[in-house]
Amino acid sequence: PLDGQSPPWYPTPKGGADPAWEESYKKAAELVAQMTLVEKVNVTTGTGWSMDMCVGNNGAVPRLGFPQLCLQDGPLGIRFADNITAFPAGITVGATWNKELMYQRGKAHGKEARLKGVNVLLGPAMGPFGRMPAGGRNWEGFGSDPVLQGIAAAQTIKGIQDEGVMATAKHYVANEQEHFRQAWEWGIPNAISSNIDDRTLHEIYVWPFADSVRAGVTSVMCSYNQVNSSYACQNSKLLNGILKDELGFQGFVQSDWLAQRAGVASAEAGLDMTMPGDGLRWAKGDSLWGAELTRSVLNGSVLVERLDDMVTRIVASWYQVGQDKWENEGPNFSSWTNDRIGKLHEGSPSDETTGVVNQHINVQGEGKDFHGNLVRQIAAEGTVMVKNEGDLLPLSRKGRKDGQAVAGQTKYRVGVFGEDARLPRDGINKCPDQSCNEGTLASGWGSGAVDYPYLIEPMSAIRSAFDNGSVFVTDWLENKLPKQKEIVQDQDLCIVFVNSDAGEGYLKWEDVRGDRNDLELQKGGNELIKDVAAGCGKGNGDVVVVVHTVGPVILEKFIETPNVKAVLIANLPGQESGNAIVDVLFGDVNPSGRLPFTIAKKEADYGPGSKVKYFPTPGDGLAPQQNFSEGLYVDYRYFDKQSIAPRYEFGYGLSYSKFELSSLDVRSKTKKTPLPASRPSGLAPPTYSTEIPDAKSALFPEGFHKVEKYIYPWLDSTSGVNPPKTPASQPQSPLSDAGGGPGGNPDLYTPVVTVGVSISNMGPVDGSSVVQVYITFPQNYTDPETGEPVDFPVRVLRGFEKVFVAAQKQKDGKGGEGKDIEFELTRKDLSYWDVRRQNWVMPTTGEFGIEVGFSSRDLRLKGTW
Ligand code: NOJ
Repeated sequence: PLDGQSPPWYPTPKGGADPAWEESYKKAAELVAQMTLVEKVNVTTGTGWSMDMCVGNNGAVPRLGFPQLCLQDGPLGIRFADNITAFPAGITVGATWNKELMYQRGKAHGKEARLKGVNVLLGPAMGPFGRMPAGGRNWEGFGSDPVLQGIAAAQTIKGIQDEGVMATAKHYVANEQEHFRQAWEWGIPNAISSNIDDRTLHEIYVWPFADSVRAGVTSVMCSYNQVNSSYACQNSKLLNGILKDELGFQGFVQSDWLAQRAGVASAEAGLDMTMPGDGLRWAKGDSLWGAELTRSVLNGSVLVERLDDMVTRIVASWYQVGQDKWENEGPNFSSWTNDRIGKLHEGSPSDETTGVVNQHINVQGEGKDFHGNLVRQIAAEGTVMVKNEGDLLPLSRKGRKDGQAVAGQTKYRVGVFGEDARLPRDGINKCPDQSCNEGTLASGWGSGAVDYPYLIEPMSAIRSAFDNGSVFVTDWLENKLPKQKEIVQDQDLCIVFVNSDAGEGYLKWEDVRGDRNDLELQKGGNELIKDVAAGCGKGNGDVVVVVHTVGPVILEKFIETPNVKAVLIANLPGQESGNAIVDVLFGDVNPSGRLPFTIAKKEADYGPGSKVKYFPTPGDGLAPQQNFSEGLYVDYRYFDKQSIAPRYEFGYGLSYSKFELSSLDVRSKTKKTPLPASRPSGLAPPTYSTEIPDAKSALFPEGFHKVEKYIYPWLDSTSGVNPPKTPASQPQSPLSDAGGGPGGNPDLYTPVVTVGVSISNMGPVDGSSVVQVYITFPQNYTDPETGEPVDFPVRVLRGFEKVFVAAQKQKDGKGGEGKDIEFELTRKDLSYWDVRRQNWVMPTTGEFGIEVGFSSRDLRLKGTW
């Protein structure tokens, strides 16, 4: 129930139970055993905002060879650095539905991080999930479905960590909007509380984090908001209970920047590292941990073994990805200047020490490993073709498909329109963290954006793609057409570029303060399309619309205009934007992107919970409340439940070819049983001393030179330190039956059903298609124990595979090459979270439906289990 209460869960489960981490924990426990109290505290606490080179830096233990860790944004590239790659955003990666590309992007990103000396990458983002289609940061994640988010996150994490860099699953959890995400940005006493029922939490918002833990993620970032009236970074149910007990997370929890709101409470609730180290304010030199954590341990308020577990989790993660073998330690760039020489402690008002802070190392890869190639491939595959009347696309480089010029005209004439086709006038990196919508849109804004190394705009790429011998290209790269109508009227074909931007809430562009205010195209996009369509070829010209966007946009004002024949949702393509769109427009790449969200006919169709509508007023009390009362019914789950026809459904997208599915084969591997096998016990975690050290060992070393405002673990004096007579004892919350392995009870991941299908390409060209598997739960199901009905979404995605199929039209015209695909559905896939039993329960009466198709509403084959 949404009673605004988060139940307590104590104490923090110790890391070290997972056999896959055994070696790392052994080494970590040995190292930590040699650390003094202040050395341990140093590892847990950031040194303060902008005090060192990265956006986050903790303290080192030089005596034992444990380095300072560099934590750097973000999910689509290395922030505040040069000679890096601006990859496509998460939403574009989600739209590829290509697991291999998801992995490759993670790997290339991880490699860049390693070469820049970044230990911990602050990504991938898998929350926000997209509860609100206008949510400012939805584009950092992979789309509005937990399975799509979970698979994309897991692939990204494996890619990053295979390069030896720690990945961060963020933001845990339910950080669904920018408005009121934290108190200080919005002038309110407390951050918003996302109030979620237990089942929705498990089946939607936590799901991708479970997949991330299963993929071995070494860090999780807790979010700014409260969940059920308890701050996410001190919510014991979320951190101790769900993340560390139920999901078996072995790495460390770091706070979002200043998301820690209490010292002792957060330590006990399961926070392991505070970032950037500052307390309730930026760069003021005080911390909720640092010296305060030292004092809390000396006072017995935080147990020594909790501190030991925090540090061991961090050190074990470092071993787990092999960073003990790194040679050139430390970042070779500064987040605070592009100059070669700069301040070593930028944030300190009085410290003037300088040194070489930027080595400008080029990490973009070379030759065939140039990461730009991958960017181009992802951006092209992440472009979703939603309309293509009369097969207008692909275009011919010669203009007409037959290469013939129009009678009376020597050349085929193409006009390109809209500011989104050109570069921004004042440079590609003018606005801080890309916080403006100027020129072509290739990224959203905020900490999840980077400086472009270069940006290929659509216009120049299109111009060079056409054969200038037979095509005459004109452009008007503004959103308002000129008075002279000829520029539109003289064209045979018009290509219009429009967009919609959003970002993180600490920055705003015009009146968009992170979250969008609506789902319309920005900067007069609808008007532009209308004017171009009306004028193009005096109304007879063909129009292609390309939309660069952070998420769903309403297309109704032009989608049915007869000469608007083709529409491409190109998402946020990154630095190779122009090349990627050309690849699709001209058919070098057959479109295979699929929508990672639903595009509605009108905003209200997303449901009552979909809008940022809570504006606190003075009478509202301590914190804005956001009730997730729609529960499981987000995105397509809502449309399906309410029988609302979307414009384009989740999973939808067209191809230049035509695919068919056949031979559905549903095979049962086991009998249906309601509950997973009982929880395995796992390894015994390291044991830690409970002895409180002597307070004098925590005093600043004599003659120590302090950098002003820098966060240190030492105490100025031992006054106020009173060790307890008897150590505090805590009751043990019951362990979850759903736990016992990475991502939960290992039996949850046992395959129970195999689904086989065959796909063939019946169309004219080679191409890839995305085969999607959805399940329906048994109809009219009642819980056998309580006799109460259980409500289920109409259908839910449970797997997908992108397959390349060559066109091999047979002489008899019957078919192309067929390919067999197999999906395995696990126990978890076929279970729901039972709040009463606190476990995943598989319905054993009635039948599951197993549907396979090309979108959430184009389900060609149906079977049962
Ligand atoms: C706040 C953002 O919410 C988070 O995603 C980011 O990693 C940190 N700032 C650090 O920049």
